[in-house]
Amino acid sequence: MRLSKLIDKYNRRLNYLRVSITDHCNLRCIYCMSRDSVTKLLHKEILRYEEILRVIKTGVRLGISKVRITGGEPLVRRDICGFLSRLNAIDGLSDISLTTNGVLLLENIDKIKSAGIKRINISLDTLDRHKFKKITGHNFFQKVIEGIKRALDLDFYPIKLNVVVLNGINDNEILDFAGLTFSYPFQVRFIEYMPIGTACMSDRRHILAPEVKDRISVLGDLVPVDKGLDDGPAELFKLKGAKGEIGLIHPISRHFCATCNRLRLTASGRLMPCLLSDVYFDIKGPLRKGCSDNDLADIFLNAAYNKPSSHHLAMNNQPPVPGRMSAIGG
Ligand code: 5AD
Ligand code: SF4
Repeated sequence: MRLSKLIDKYNRRLNYLRVSITDHCNLRCIYCMSRDSVTKLLHKEILRYEEILRVIKTGVRLGISKVRITGGEPLVRRDICGFLSRLNAIDGLSDISLTTNGVLLLENIDKIKSAGIKRINISLDTLDRHKFKKITGHNFFQKVIEGIKRALDLDFYPIKLNVVVLNGINDNEILDFAGLTFSYPFQVRFIEYMPIGTACMSDRRHILAPEVKDRISVLGDLVPVDKGLDDGPAELFKLKGAKGEIGLIHPISRHFCATCNRLRLTASGRLMPCLLSDVYFDIKGPLRKGCSDNDLADIFLNAAYNKPSSHHLAMNNQPPVPGRMSAIGG
C-alpha cells in the first residue's frame, strides 16, 4: 500500500477523494434539496471530464487511492460511463465507486459494469412507492427497484443501500430495511440526518444511530462485523443468518472526524477538506489559467493541511451548515 503524502495538521493521512461531477439531480429529496427552484451551475461552471481526470491524477500522485463519484446525481451527466472507463484506467487507484439515486441505473448499469466499476451505493429511503414520491418529489420508485435488481443480477458487490432515517417519515420502515439483509446480500446503511443548507428540517426529524440499533435488535442479535478497508465510517453488524450487513453511520451522535481520510472535489472545481465546513480551495481558476501539475499538487497539499480537526454539528441549537449537499456530494 502506498502511503499518502496528504497529511493534515492532526496527522490524518488523506487517501480518499469524493468527486461530485454535477450538482444537477433528477430528484428533490426533502433532506437534501429545496423544492423551490434550485439554482444550478451552468455547463461552463462545471469542471469538464478532462479537468476532473487531471485533478484526480494529481491526487493519485500524492497518495489518493480511493475515489467515489457522486453528484447531485452522477448518472444525469452525459457520457458518465465513458468518464468512468477513463477513471478506471488511471494507475494507482485501488477503489472506484459510485453513489447514485438509482433512477437511471437500469439503463446504465451494464455500461457501468463494462467501465470496470464493481461496487455501488444507492440512496433509497423507503420501500413504499407513495412515500418515495413524498420524499423525493418524483414517482420513480419502480425504476429504482428495477435498477437495484439488475445490479444484483450483474453481481455488483457490495451493493450498499443508503437510508437517511427521518422520524415520522420512514422510521417505521427500519425493520423492513434491516430485514432485507436476510434475503439479499445488501449492506443496508442507516444514516443520521445532517442539517445542511436550505433543505434542512426540524430537529424533531432526527433519529440517532443508537435508537436505530436498539429497534433493529428485535430481529435478532446484531453481531459486529470487522470492517473492510473500503467501509469508511459505517459501524457494521450482521443479523444471525443474514446474507447482508447493516451499517450505522452516525455523523451526529458519534462523529468520526478523528479518523476522517477524505477530501472532496465539487462539480464547480473546489477542493473541500470537510463536508461540514465552508473552507475551500479553488482549483478551477488555476486549472483554466494553465497552471502546472506542481501548482495543482500544491493546492491539494494546502487543502489537506487545512482540514479542520472536527465539525461541531450537534442536534440542538446549532445553525445549519451552509452549502448544499447536492453541490458538495454527500
Ligand atoms: N443528511 C444525511 N445524509 C444525506 N444525504 C443527502 N443529504 C443528506 C443529509 N442532509 C445522503 C444521501 C446519499 C448520500 C450521498 O448522502 O442519502 O445517499
Ligand atoms: Fe438528489 Fe441525492 Fe439530493 Fe436526493 S439526496 S435530491 S437523490 S442529490
